[in-house]
Amino acid sequence: MCKNIEKQIFNYLSENLTPKKLEHSYNVAMLAADLASRHSSNDTLKARTAGLLHDCAKLMTDKELIDFFKKRNKTLKYFQDISKFSPHLLHSFAGGNVAREKFKIKDKDILNAIKNHTLGRENMSVLEKIIFVADYVSRDRKWKYAKRIRNLAKNDLNKAFFEALIKKMEYVINNSMWMCPQIIDTWNWYVSNGKKDN
Ligand SMILES: [Fe+2]
Ligand SMILES: [Fe+2]
Repeated sequence: MCKNIEKQIFNYLSENLTPKKLEHSYNVAMLAADLASRHSSNDTLKARTAGLLHDCAKLMTDKELIDFFKKRNKTLKYFQDISKFSPHLLHSFAGGNVAREKFKIKDKDILNAIKNHTLGRENMSVLEKIIFVADYVSRDRKWKYAKRIRNLAKNDLNKAFFEALIKKMEYVINNSMWMCPQIIDTWNWYVSNGKKDN
């Protein structure tokens, strides 16, 4: 990513996120770049870009998010259910669109990493897993297992990804929240393809 685009992204985020969310995005970018340097050869810039942008649509209201997709005639799997039960989940998908439309990001891997950072999907790339994990255990996350999964991710990205996925689903169940079918699809794909311990 050239300095100019990075500056544009930073300016946009400064105007469109709270200071806390801006700090979170920065932390995710830093952790993602670190994980990319350990787990893939030269993807640190892509990881940084995806990390910085992953929550770029985070402050859109539920109504804005729903309208965003209606206006674009986007077909999104589970859109009706997500709109009804948990519209804030749309921020990931909207973020992918904002990254493409506003910053002309064309790299499919970066866009997929942004879109799937909350719910995952089947057969994720290394970058997608990095952003999924980095978002969940970035330095600003103070919950019980964050530090352990963060350290685990440095050595074993797949194990860390699976633990993050489990913790996310446990949280939804323990708080009697609606479970989006997409995260169940993610889980089922990894379990049925024997990827859990790879
Ligand atoms: Fe997010
Ligand atoms: Fe995030």
